[in-house]
Amino acid sequence: MSKNDTIDDFLRSFSCVIITGASSGIGRAILSRIYNSGTAAAVFNLSRTPPEGVPNTCKFTHLTCDLSQPSQVEDVVGELRKLMPAEGRILLVNNSGFGGYGEFPAPGLDHTLKMVDVNVRAPVQLTGLLWDELKRRGGQVATVASLAGYQPTPLMTTYAATKAFMLHWSIALDAEAKPYGVRCVAICPGPVSTNFSKAAGFSGPTGLGGQTAEDCVDESLHAMAKSRPQVIPGWKNRLLGMFSARLPKPWAAAIGLRMIRRLRLDRFVQR
Ligand SMILES: NC(=O)c1ccc[n+]([C@@H]2O[C@H](COP(=O)([O-])OP(=O)(O)OC[C@H]3O[C@@H](n4cnc5c(N)ncnc54)[C@H](OP(=O)(O)O)[C@@H]3O)[C@@H](O)[C@H]2O)c1
Repeated sequence: MSKNDTIDDFLRSFSCVIITGASSGIGRAILSRIYNSGTAAAVFNLSRTPPEGVPNTCKFTHLTCDLSQPSQVEDVVGELRKLMPAEGRILLVNNSGFGGYGEFPAPGLDHTLKMVDVNVRAPVQLTGLLWDELKRRGGQVATVASLAGYQPTPLMTTYAATKAFMLHWSIALDAEAKPYGVRCVAICPGPVSTNFSKAAGFSGPTGLGGQTAEDCVDESLHAMAKSRPQVIPGWKNRLLGMFSARLPKPWAAAIGLRMIRRLRLDRFVQR
């Protein structure tokens, strides 16, 4: 079976897909691929803005939600419970997230705490509120972590730590959830060309290059279809992840600091 067929079959196996952050970047590319699979699933997007060019239909619903607000996450799950099909496998994709660059707590303590809320608190809360439903019906929880989660990363200290949390959380949850027919997959992209750098406080692209969102999503969905507990899209990223994860953590931090300083990312920071 071709890679595309494997992904299509996988996506068609769900009656309900819930994704966060499909208004942009990686989430938007996942949403497009879901549509191209010809799935009959009811699809729900949770983010502050709707995905452009995707109107609400009987098969797609955008639910406005600021994931940094725990009360909004609780309310949106209440709405989901009323709208989602009552039976069939569920796919939950915890994708929303953003970063920040600079010496702690840059770009600001407020930004940093919101990052913890959106990158960590919200996926744990959302998964927790849907957990009984997931265990009863079976399905998958895919969480977009990051290559940055494999090592302590100076100048992106909080961002990398939120992604380390999600990486470990997802892999541990997979071991626990397997007997219930629920699999968990941690997706760990390296640099991907999206709005990420802008949301992290850079004035534009940082010149780090990276994968297209489509290539990243293609590899990620294949790993999801195979229920692999973790995936690092891109062979160069995989090598880097394997290398840095094996270093003693203080060494990885010291080497990381030197490498990041050499990139002179300060040039791109929005003033
Ligand atoms: N791009 C990269 O280089 C890269 C690398 C590794 C991992 N990642 C991870 O990939 C995921 C997707 O990022 P991306 O690269 O696609 O960036 P992006 O283009 O900036 O998209 C981020 C998405 O997160 C949503 N989001 C942000 N704050 C939110 C909030 N308070 N409530 C609800 N949704 C919120 C945004 O939706 P709204 O603005 O409409 O709310 C948007 O859809 C993130 O978890 C990121 O950490 C990205």
